[in-house]
Amino acid sequence: MADPILAFPEGFVWGAATAAYQIEGGWNAEGKGESIWDRFCHTPGKIHNGDTGDVACDHYHYCQADIALMRQLGLTAYRFSVSWPRVVPNGCGAINPAGLDFYDRLVDGLLAANLQPFVTLYHWDLPQALGDLGGWPHRDVCGYFADYAALMVRRLGDRVRHWTTFNEPHVSAFLGYRDGQHAPGLQDEKLALQAAHHLLMAHGLAAQAIRAIAPQAQVGIVLDMFPTETDTDLPEDRTIVERAWQKEIGWFLDPLLRACYPPEALQAYGPHAPHIQPGDLALIAQRLDFLGVNFYSRNLVRNGNLVKPVPGSEYTEMDWEIHAPALRRLLVRLQREYSIPPLYITENGAACPDKVGPDGCVHDPRRINYLRDHFTQVRLAMDDGVDLRGYFVWSLLDNFEWSYGYSKRFGLIYVDYSTQRRIFKDSARWYAQVIARNGVED
Ligand code: BGC
Repeated sequence: MADPILAFPEGFVWGAATAAYQIEGGWNAEGKGESIWDRFCHTPGKIHNGDTGDVACDHYHYCQADIALMRQLGLTAYRFSVSWPRVVPNGCGAINPAGLDFYDRLVDGLLAANLQPFVTLYHWDLPQALGDLGGWPHRDVCGYFADYAALMVRRLGDRVRHWTTFNEPHVSAFLGYRDGQHAPGLQDEKLALQAAHHLLMAHGLAAQAIRAIAPQAQVGIVLDMFPTETDTDLPEDRTIVERAWQKEIGWFLDPLLRACYPPEALQAYGPHAPHIQPGDLALIAQRLDFLGVNFYSRNLVRNGNLVKPVPGSEYTEMDWEIHAPALRRLLVRLQREYSIPPLYITENGAACPDKVGPDGCVHDPRRINYLRDHFTQVRLAMDDGVDLRGYFVWSLLDNFEWSYGYSKRFGLIYVDYSTQRRIFKDSARWYAQVIARNGVED
């Protein structure tokens, strides 16, 4: 007998997500400008195996075929990002009509296939010309971003309703400017905090620009949330958990929803704290129509130490613990402590050691288990009162995993990079059933 179904509300959005640099390729096709990720990948020693996003999944050319795959999956929405230097090669000034045409065709193709487009304006590929100006630590970049947002809304706003300004400003600022692991590869905490402040200001300016052109637009932002948790009652552990929340999650959420930085964290940054001008925080705290949460895993602390590996837990190929209940706890905390707008899970998924088997198929039972566990936990969070509207699996396709190059596979669909052949993994077929039933087997 089939297991009972854990049903989702009617109209729940079932999607998959990608990002321009990770799938498009065509890095210098038809007038596209260079991005900081092009430059970073072309610098020897930065990326595993010397990989680059030059070709990636060549989605720039396979776009309509990829939409057909989405349709086969039965997705009701697709989250993708626009490459800023593809449409404005130098970040400001002249536009590239071929770039705009590409996104125009993508959106038309999605709508014709009955998929709602969720557009992200920035998923880390800053035009190199603006990088040369100083990148996100330079305040002028905020205004250029708002101009670019306005350009996109003028072009697509008649058909696109959901606009996300930024994907994971925390990662852009801290991995790019403090840890050196992402473009532009700098290691300076003060610059990173200034970059983070400007990313948030650029969000505020862009939200205003989007609404001025398309008052009906739904405007949101996507934050990465990798919570630190403890299972002890030790005050020391509670303090670590709270400090991590303030520095990683609250650092972005509080200015957006409360118009202030978490006071203790601000003080702790001392001379590295960002320079904040009068009016900046009010600008950042624009009304949000939705908040996107990217969740993959958690950190666990006990007795003041990070526990890794957590006994009994499984880990993904990213070496991230698989622990879905942390997602429910996270969503409940957001709902309890903040005046939170409707939520979407804008990314969740697992990197697995996928291989094409002798039968020509890709069997990925661990990804199916991962997704089932997380779907179940968000459904429970909804019972707890969390207003969750949809879920986007990361990712539609295997793709370029930043500093890890092509060594990590997150896709529902396997990509053979030498032929660009796409193969549905078992998880893709399983997800198609979840969508068709609007529910998960219990
Ligand atoms: C990013 C994606 C990335 C994924 C897996 C998120 O931080 O938005 O671009 O591929 O995590 O690492």
